[in-house]
Amino acid sequence: MILFALIILIVAILLRPLTLPKPEALSAAFAPVVVAPLKPVSAFNAIVDPAARSVALFQEAGRVIRHPRCMNCHPRTDRPTQTDAMRPHMPAVARGPDGAGDPHLRCATCHNDANFTGRDVPGNPQWLLALIEQAWQGRSLGETCRQLFDPARSYITRAELLEHMANDALVGWAWHPGGDRPPAPGTQAQFGALIAAWRETDARWPA
Ligand code: HEC
Ligand code: HEC
Repeated sequence: MILFALIILIVAILLRPLTLPKPEALSAAFAPVVVAPLKPVSAFNAIVDPAARSVALFQEAGRVIRHPRCMNCHPRTDRPTQTDAMRPHMPAVARGPDGAGDPHLRCATCHNDANFTGRDVPGNPQWLLALIEQAWQGRSLGETCRQLFDPARSYITRAELLEHMANDALVGWAWHPGGDRPPAPGTQAQFGALIAAWRETDARWPA
């Protein structure tokens, strides 16, 4: 009898209703990734050695150059990439003969003169893919810089580079990319100022 009571007791203990862990409420929005703002030129005044200062200025500018907003249009294949993860462009599109898409699927079919918020498609009147000689993905900042000034590939003077970085409207899109896309750090003016200061310090770049 006692044994029976004991068994009942043990079974009752084993089968007792257990409280499940309370579900935790997840906040609807994830915390945004905080990107350090672009350092102003004055932040580099303390570097006395002009060569070291030049490299440091270019490295800071490189935070823009290597940003997905720029890199997505400078792929090393014929297909642009998308998002911060730099995934292959969906749908599959190709640069075509002029960088503006295949004859049957032009970039401008979807990318219009301005960002289109309704369907979240980025836009700019000049929307096209950088030349294959101007591919940046998979290259270090130093390699990118060497390539910029390599006469065997696309060749750009330092003055042209400054003009392009500081004033080009397509480059400027990277700071106003529309949708939820994080913009390149800083402003185009700050970026231009870094490139200008870099030129004044003999325009060195990292190895
Ligand atoms: C069928 C429509 C369509 C065509 C054609 C198209 N795109 Fe896109 N593209 C999109 C959409 C939609 C997005 C936004 C996707 C997202 O952010 O998730 C996008 C995003 C991009 C981005 C990424 C922007 C960023 O930084 O995240 C680049 C770069 C791009 N397109 C380049 C091109 C180029 C270059 C062409 C022509 C060779 C082209 N696209 C043709 C629809 C298209
Ligand atoms: C929508 C596509 C697109 C985006 C976004 C883009 N570029 Fe480009 N980029 C191009 C195209 C097209 C060219 C070649 C045509 C030209 O020289 O204007 C180019 C050329 C360049 C060149 C000259 C490269 C060389 O080897 O001569 C530089 C420098 C450059 N881009 C900088 C940038 C920077 C910096 C950003 C981001 C802040 C950026 N680009 C974003 C399409 C893009």
